[in-house]
Amino acid sequence: MLAVRSGKPVTFSAQALEQAQQIIRRYPEGQKKSALIPILHLAQEQNGGFLSVEAMDYVAEMLDLSPIEVYEVATFYTMFHLKPVGRYVLEVCHTGPCEIKGAEWLLQTLKSKLGVDEGEITPDGLFSIRRVECLAACGYAPMLQCGERYYEFLNTEEKVEALLEHLRQNANT
Ligand code: FES
Repeated sequence: MLAVRSGKPVTFSAQALEQAQQIIRRYPEGQKKSALIPILHLAQEQNGGFLSVEAMDYVAEMLDLSPIEVYEVATFYTMFHLKPVGRYVLEVCHTGPCEIKGAEWLLQTLKSKLGVDEGEITPDGLFSIRRVECLAACGYAPMLQCGERYYEFLNTEEKVEALLEHLRQNANT
């Protein structure tokens, strides 16, 4: 997937800059590149949930890397979003065991309840849906990941509705 230019300069907050320095200090002198993945997570968080070209260039400068070294990593891992996403990205596993247990049903149910297709953002800016590969929770299928949390056994409309409502409530707190 091609990354997008947001046209906005990227800067970290003072707190995020301090966090970035702490991450860089974990590695030996001259090995700043080792901090790339955690710093990309931080950049994604600081940039509204996705890595624009500007955000990746900012990280490259911070770590004394060429931009292409950052693009190579950011475009390889699916946990990095290369275009704007909703506040909550619902990452639905569709690999074998989840597929057998209803991943397609879950995807269709989310799409129909939210009125968006995969890769789109709901008008309120809250949700995006993504199809991802095995999240190592096969015994709890069908499931999805949202942020750092897993939501499992999502096999009824009630459970899906309850999850969406829970996230909507969280967004208001
Ligand atoms: S197949 Fe879905 S978590 Fe493994």
